[in-house]
Amino acid sequence: MRVCRSLAEFQILRKAIPPVKNVGLVPTMGALHRGHLSLMELAKSQCDIVISTIFVNPTQFGPNEDLSKYPRQEIEDIKKLEQSKHVDYLLLPTVEDVYPKGFSTFVNVEGIDEQKEAKSRPGHFRGVTTVVSKLFNMTQPQKAYFGAKDAMQCIVIKKMVRDLNIPIEIVIGQTLREPDGLAMSSRNVYLSEQDRKISTILYKSLSAAEQLWNLGKGSHCEVHTSASNLVQEILKVLSQEPSVLVDYISVGSRADGSELSIVDYHEGAIISLAVKLGTTRLIDNIELLPK
Ligand code: PAJ
Repeated sequence: MRVCRSLAEFQILRKAIPPVKNVGLVPTMGALHRGHLSLMELAKSQCDIVISTIFVNPTQFGPNEDLSKYPRQEIEDIKKLEQSKHVDYLLLPTVEDVYPKGFSTFVNVEGIDEQKEAKSRPGHFRGVTTVVSKLFNMTQPQKAYFGAKDAMQCIVIKKMVRDLNIPIEIVIGQTLREPDGLAMSSRNVYLSEQDRKISTILYKSLSAAEQLWNLGKGSHCEVHTSASNLVQEILKVLSQEPSVLVDYISVGSRADGSELSIVDYHEGAIISLAVKLGTTRLIDNIELLPK
């Protein structure tokens, strides 16, 4: 694996990749875990060349978020990537590479302000779409890989690619979980031992809602259910752990993430939630599959 610590160094190597090669990109912010590695493995199975990037993107963090303490583990990350053998080029651009002095151009997917993750993190998706479009331009892949763990991020990136005619296929990899159900995340290292145990309640609550969904879906006389039924089921489970503070529970369209009040059994939905546990913000989601 070639490690490039600047964009200039990377661009020389990128030019040398023959155009016939199918290139896949896996963008990350580092502190790599098996969820990230699963995307790289998927990319390697579909592409000739896999490029990954590690860049903790300042523009997607709000003023009171964890940018300064976001885990940075470059040496361990490189070791994991070397061992996995899924990545051919690792680009670690500098902040100046991505946001040179005088930078003032942003990419913004409009009309998502009512979606609960967007509402909860104002400006976050503008930072994501800006950096992702820049990483696309820097690496010029045919395919780019993102995890279903960040459901709204996937929807927003797919919309950006469609709206701007970006000639890149977006591939979504499934969420990897710890054996007890907690979705893998770079932020899990913040959890105290006790909060780590409590955190399993997130997936338990989503699974309870999924069970309720499957029950209704199986019944012949029902055509839809109310989003509030599903939300109530989740709240019932989460209330077993009073230290879990709910930021939001969203029942959104699988197509565009917009909030639903009625969920059609033939259309399905994505339930996503964000909670605060101690000082850590955790997100997770589950897709309710249609009939
Ligand atoms: P980061 O949180 O590092 O995640 C990088 C990629 O890994 C994202 O596509 C994310 O959805 C995926 N991922 C995270 N946890 C996962 C899990 N448990 N299973 C499967 N995939 C998982 O998401 C970002 O970085 C940034 O917003 C980025 C897209 C790099 C832009 O800065």
